[in-house]
Amino acid sequence: MAIQRTFSIIKPDATKRNLTGAVNAVIEKAGLRIVAQKRILMTRAQAETFYSVHAARPFFGELCDFMTSGPVVVQVLEGENAIATYRDVMGATNPANAAEGTIRKLFALSVGENTAHGSDAPETAAQEIAQFFAGNEIVG
Ligand code: CMP
Repeated sequence: MAIQRTFSIIKPDATKRNLTGAVNAVIEKAGLRIVAQKRILMTRAQAETFYSVHAARPFFGELCDFMTSGPVVVQVLEGENAIATYRDVMGATNPANAAEGTIRKLFALSVGENTAHGSDAPETAAQEIAQFFAGNEIVG
């Protein structure tokens, strides 16, 4: 497997509890390299665009409220098989189902306040990275 990039968000529940460094430590321990990172306040429009695939879901409004409720840290992670590796490192969406040692098992509060987002496929990774980063902001 070639070196791949994935997009990550450290969500407001984590930034609020000062856990950015703790989450990054798990990411780096898993062999992923943080090649771009910035702390932002997501606008409503950015959140609605980012999660547009979930627009018809009953939790869409709540999800966008949450993602705009405080700072998030958007990141590009690079490494061998980065998309699947990061999904393993994050653990299941619902922390109740997440494996020991995963980011969501360690830090997440609920299925909504679940600490981290990671891309699910190469196409979405490229799209998500392009929504938040210019090419020259990513330094591998
Ligand atoms: P994420 O990986 O960011 O992608 C979609 C998000 O929707 C997911 O993480 C969860 O945080 C959120 N989500 C999924 N199911 C629910 C739910 N039942 N209630 C609230 N949020 C949800």
